[in-house]
Amino acid sequence: MTKQRVLSGIQPSGKLTLGNYIGAMKNFVALQHEHDCFFMVVDLHAITVQQEPAALREQSEAVATLYVAAGLDPAQASIFMQSHVPAHAELGWLMTTMTYIGELERMTQFKDKSEGKEAVGAGLFVYPSLMAADILLYNTNLVPVGDDQKQHLELTRDLAGRFNHRYGDTFVIPEPFIPKVGARIMSLDDGTKKMSKSSPNAGSFITLLDAPEDIRKKISRAKTDLGREVIFDVQNKPEVSNLMTIFAQCSGQTLEQVQSAYEGQGYGTFKKDLAEVVVQALEPMQSKYADIKASGEITRILRDGAERASAVAEVTLRNVKEAMGFLPRCL
Ligand code: TYM
Repeated sequence: MTKQRVLSGIQPSGKLTLGNYIGAMKNFVALQHEHDCFFMVVDLHAITVQQEPAALREQSEAVATLYVAAGLDPAQASIFMQSHVPAHAELGWLMTTMTYIGELERMTQFKDKSEGKEAVGAGLFVYPSLMAADILLYNTNLVPVGDDQKQHLELTRDLAGRFNHRYGDTFVIPEPFIPKVGARIMSLDDGTKKMSKSSPNAGSFITLLDAPEDIRKKISRAKTDLGREVIFDVQNKPEVSNLMTIFAQCSGQTLEQVQSAYEGQGYGTFKKDLAEVVVQALEPMQSKYADIKASGEITRILRDGAERASAVAEVTLRNVKEAMGFLPRCL
């Protein structure tokens, strides 16, 4: 049986959070052995909001390094920068012409990111068409993402279907791969808001490279509620339920195991143990991160990854252009 193709990406638009890890990266690592995997750093997406050039360079390298530090094996999975494979920008434009304005206006991520802003870049609006191109270039079967990307995935499926209908069977229709637990890790200061690397309050998220003292401090200050019991109840106890999800995901336990372990104990003990569980889960990643950074090997990893990615992407792009009626370069 041929392996299923898996593709996903993370924006280098800030430090990666525990939400990025639990919702996405952890699954990248789990999927790499059984599937044919492509994981990229989506720098072309990051520039849909203004980026400082030096910061973009630094964060791009940091995300690629974190991929490897979190356990991705560059020999198994192709790790690359989106901008190193020009087919993304080119198919992105072609997919933009296939997308209706009404569809883009309905995207909740666009609504959230543009709300209250005076000048909103057009790139932010057409962002989902580029994301569709990213996925469709690789004949992707599975896209591991957190819950917030579900709507973009649905649009990708619609666009692929529309293209196939208009121009003949060209694209594989991808499926989202969203974890049952941890698909939406919430902010530490508000259990109804997503944990986000772009939040102005650094205490609301834990980054993958946070020092143990900072992790302990952030968890001890994390919002809970007036109750006392460590019970999983998203409706009535969103903050405690979120902390329990983080505990379960970082320790490998089920939510039921976490709940029964803390029966009859207060939030204090639970939070103290949670901080240690998170510190221990991140420690191997942090030390590997330092080693990879010192070795300078990420340049070679990204070069190899871009070569492997280009080989697949260029074939798809050629087929797409032929189907649409573009004249081939060599007649
Ligand atoms: P981005 O960079 O915002 O987030 C990267 C991944 O992390 C997941 N995630 C979360 N999961 C659980 N809880 C959270 N609080 C949380 N915050 C983020 C996201 O769902 C995502 O899986 N549009 C994408 C990047 C992208 C992409 C692609 C993804 C561009 N092209 C092609 C897949 C395939 C984004 O902005 O992710």
